[in-house]
Amino acid sequence: MKAVQAMLRLFVWSLALILVPSAGTCLPEAVPESSRKFLELDSGSSPVQLLVYDWASAELGSTIAAILIQEVLGYHARIDSERTVTVFEGLLALAGCTDFDCTSTVERKHVAVESWLSEVITLYPAFRDAHPAICPEDMGTMGYFGNHNLFVKAYVRDEAYHDVGLALEFYRSYNTSHHDPKKYFDSFTDIPQSEFFPCDTPGNEFVNTVRMDLYVQYTGDEAGVTLTPEGYVAYCPDGYFWLSPACRHDPSGCIPIIAAGNGWIIDAQMQWATAYGFPAAIGIAATWDLYVHQ
Ligand SMILES: *[C@@H]1O[C@H](CO)[C@@H](O)[C@H](O)[C@H]1NC(C)=O
Repeated sequence: MKAVQAMLRLFVWSLALILVPSAGTCLPEAVPESSRKFLELDSGSSPVQLLVYDWASAELGSTIAAILIQEVLGYHARIDSERTVTVFEGLLALAGCTDFDCTSTVERKHVAVESWLSEVITLYPAFRDAHPAICPEDMGTMGYFGNHNLFVKAYVRDEAYHDVGLALEFYRSYNTSHHDPKKYFDSFTDIPQSEFFPCDTPGNEFVNTVRMDLYVQYTGDEAGVTLTPEGYVAYCPDGYFWLSPACRHDPSGCIPIIAAGNGWIIDAQMQWATAYGFPAAIGIAATWDLYVHQ
C-alpha cells in the first residue's frame, strides 16, 4: 500500500512538472527563444521550415522534431500551416519545385519527418538523377517501422467465423479450393464505378511501369498486365478494377479490395493476391473521403 502511495505521489509530482513548463519551453535546459539562431541562406535568414504530412503520426513526429530543433539545436523553427498529402509532394517541397521537372520554383521547406520512402522508391532516385544539386537528402530512419495491412470489418470477420468457423484474418482462408470467403463480402460490381479512378489514370500505381514490371517478374502473371512501350501496366477488364488470377475467370467471385491515394501498395496487394490465391478485385477510391467512408 505504501509503495502504491509513493508511486502515485511521484506520478502526480511529475505531472505537475509537465503541466508547468518554464517560459514556454518543453525540455529542461532548453535553449531559450531569445538565444536561438536563424538559418543564414542566400535568400536571407529564415527559421527552419518543417513541412508536415497529412497523417497523425507525421503531426506527432514533426512536433517533436520542431521542439528538438528549437530547444536542443537552438534554431528558430516554423511548422508549415499546410498539410502535405504525399511523400512525392514532400520531396518537391524540400527541393522547392512545383513539379518533377522543376519547371517553376517555390520557397523551399527544410525538413520533413515521416517521409515513407518506400512510397517513392522509383520517383526519389529518378528525381535525384534529374536534379542532383537540389534533391533532398535522406537522413536515414527515425528508428521505427511501419506495416501495410489489409483490413476486414469486424462484423464481416465475425459472421464468417460464426457461420462456418472461417478465420478471415488468416490469409490461407482465402484459398478458393477449400473455402468460399467471397460469400461474406459484396461484389465490386455493386460499388459505383464513378467512385473509383480509372486504372489508366496517370500518376497512379496501376500505370507505374517499374512496379508493374516487378509484379510480372515475381509472379509471372502476364495475363494481369498489358505491355506498353514504357513497360507493363495493370490490365483492368472493366477499366476500373484489376482482377487476381483466382477470380479472373469469374469476376463475380472477386472480393473487392479498396486502395487509397494514388494506389500506394497495390503492387504488394497484387503480389499477395496472386501468391496466396486470393480472389481479389483491386480498385483505387477516387477521393480520400470516399475511401474513409467505405
Ligand atoms: C490452395 O489449396 C489447393 C488445394 O489444397 C492447393 O493445391 C493450392 O496450392 C493452394 N493455393 C495456395 C495459393 O496456397
